[in-house]
Amino acid sequence: MNVDYLVVGSGLFGSTFAYEAAKRGKKVKVIERRNHIGGNVYTEQIEGIQVHRYGAHIFHTNDKKIWDYVNEFAEFNRYTNSPIANYKGEIYNLPFNMNTFNKLWGVVTPQEAKAKIEEQKRKANIMKPKNLEEQAISLVGTDIYEKLIKGYTEKQWGRKATELPAFIIKRLPVRFTYDNNYFNDRYQGIPIGGYTQIIEKMLASDLIDVELNTDFFEKKEMYLQQYPKIVYTGMIDQFFDYRYGELEYRSLHFKTAILDQENYQGNAVVNYTDAETPFTRVIEHKHFEFGTQPKTVITKEYPKTWTKGDEPYYPLNDVVNNEKFKKYRTLADELPNVLFGGRLGMYKYYDMHQVIAAALSVVKKEFSE
Ligand code: FDA
Repeated sequence: MNVDYLVVGSGLFGSTFAYEAAKRGKKVKVIERRNHIGGNVYTEQIEGIQVHRYGAHIFHTNDKKIWDYVNEFAEFNRYTNSPIANYKGEIYNLPFNMNTFNKLWGVVTPQEAKAKIEEQKRKANIMKPKNLEEQAISLVGTDIYEKLIKGYTEKQWGRKATELPAFIIKRLPVRFTYDNNYFNDRYQGIPIGGYTQIIEKMLASDLIDVELNTDFFEKKEMYLQQYPKIVYTGMIDQFFDYRYGELEYRSLHFKTAILDQENYQGNAVVNYTDAETPFTRVIEHKHFEFGTQPKTVITKEYPKTWTKGDEPYYPLNDVVNNEKFKKYRTLADELPNVLFGGRLGMYKYYDMHQVIAAALSVVKKEFSE
């Protein structure tokens, strides 16, 4: 039987598309550059613990349809993301909330906390923030900025906060309740047994053939000739041979270790917010699933400037890159047989629920539903 769709990339976008196409009787071939399926949501079992190979992945959404959709592929646990900030050994709750303010200043009521922040904002006297530092201080005052934002942000971007544009921080989540839940979304959790099973189930149809360790660019011309339609979830600038130059990203470096102890840090996510500690976060994977194994697995996350060939994690959506992307998008629109999607194809940071929604909307359009 002839293949109807070639899907480039087996991440959530490509896999959702492949699953939906097969459901409609289409034959799909999926090619994946890595030696495993799943893209960045990939999890693998180490010491009986589901390890998030490409950084902490917490599923959260307000969209009941998307929540019901993912629950068809896995059962989710009751995990609620409540990260901790470690500033030189002082522990604070995130996002900034009454627990954080109480620890910082000893305040007890929301009125006291608001007064403290207002007082600091007034003293700083910033009318029109010129950079990220001024923007952050004008939103939350000096103490929170100094202890919980400055060092973390400077490590993340590899630049001084006074040299970063103000627009990076538009809003900062500040809550005047004793609520440590990071997300405001109605639905949240971690799939029991990990994310990889979701992708496995999506790609399980007899109509889907998956080929790992296969880079689209090794035989680009052949694929373009051979397949009537291509769903491409790789980097859009690479597809067009970087004609308008490279789109920039921020990258990360992960260092994972198995520790011979039951509980390392007592929480799944701890942010190191000082400037000296070289990593930004430590993930202890077992706490995503309330694990009680005798050993534990931790991952330290080091921010990294992206250079060509590095894993592109976060698109750097500044004005220059967005303009460049628009030009690539125009080229993409001239190719009706290639559908561009996912975080690399759209040069956009998508959360998991958003990338599934984006794939389902492409499916709807493609099958005229
Ligand atoms: P993804 O990158 O996953 O898949 C693309 C696939 O295409 C990859 O497998 C790649 O190898 C393959 N590919 C690329 N070029 C190719 C080529 N030339 N040939 C063949 N294959 C090719 N979201 C959320 O909701 N909650 C969270 O907590 C987090 N946390 C988080 C942490 C970190 C560190 C990151 C970077 C991201 C998150 N996310 C997240 C976002 C989440 O990872 C994201 O929404 C999905 O992985 C996007 O799926 P895609 O299919 O678009 O890309």
